[in-house]
Amino acid sequence: MSGELKKEQVLKIIKSKGKEKEQLLAILLEIQQASGQNYVDKKWARLVADELGLPLTKVYDALTFYAMFSTEPRGKYIIEICQSAPCHVMNKAALVQMFEKQLGIKMGETTPDGLFTLQYSACFGACDLAPAVKIGEKVYGKLTAQKVAEIIANYRGVSVCPK
Ligand code: FES
Repeated sequence: MSGELKKEQVLKIIKSKGKEKEQLLAILLEIQQASGQNYVDKKWARLVADELGLPLTKVYDALTFYAMFSTEPRGKYIIEICQSAPCHVMNKAALVQMFEKQLGIKMGETTPDGLFTLQYSACFGACDLAPAVKIGEKVYGKLTAQKVAEIIANYRGVSVCPK
């Protein structure tokens, strides 16, 4: 996990985007990525509002409207399990159980090592793989407990013995 973001780093991100109001989402996204904990701290939301000349409520509107943002620390890897109808009917519940069991946490929680957060998501267009899971830009589908174990081990950088 990287250390806490410094004010200079955040100002640099804002400056690199040109301080345009239209850049709000791009700025918030970059701050979130640079945080190392997948979130935008409240103090950085305030700084962004000041620098862009926006009301703080406008920044919070963006942070709360878009599911990709969080104002609370999350895991380095966000595991998004689709809960839209096609994935739901293809037994999304079993998939949720596999991830919860493998990680030892419940949906909405983060592993104690700060590596993984489990959360629900709306359809991300991988319905043919239902029930589908997205981790960062990668999409996985038709998973078994063994495959889930392998995926988690992969992100942890360890190998899993096949059963
Ligand atoms: S419904 Fe789950 S990815 Fe489309």
